[in-house]
Amino acid sequence: MQVEAIDAILAKFPEKRGSLIGILHEVQNHFRYLPEGELRYISKRIGIPITQIYSIVNFYNRFSLKPKGKNEISVCLGTACHVKGAEKVMNQIKDKLHIDKGETTDDMNFSLDEVRCIGACSLAPAVVINDDTHALVTPKQVEKLLSKYKD
Ligand code: FES
Repeated sequence: MQVEAIDAILAKFPEKRGSLIGILHEVQNHFRYLPEGELRYISKRIGIPITQIYSIVNFYNRFSLKPKGKNEISVCLGTACHVKGAEKVMNQIKDKLHIDKGETTDDMNFSLDEVRCIGACSLAPAVVINDDTHALVTPKQVEKLLSKYKD
């Protein structure tokens, strides 16, 4: 367990109990997921039951209990994106990466998830990779798009 990393994150939050979501974001960013041992340590340090922490972790899509890839792909499958062919884009990404939704490539380079409307319906179909939103994505563009993020 990386106690020093967690201690450094906790030190950023003077009011720890009221900052649980912010703390979890920092831990997720650091490890790319929320390791169980670290969550239990946080639970003890800030006095919030582990069950309460898990209920928050399970509520937010952003949090993951499994290691995520270096690049997190979110394909919007909301109504506007669906109508504009987002499912075909999703299938193309699955084919190219040989993973399904909710999975991570063996080389830990990519994780793939779906989201429901990211508020960019005029850009449908939209794909978010890390902090970048890609607009009007077609299945043909997928290979080139992924290549920008490959090691
Ligand atoms: S439905 Fe995809 S951005 Fe709104």
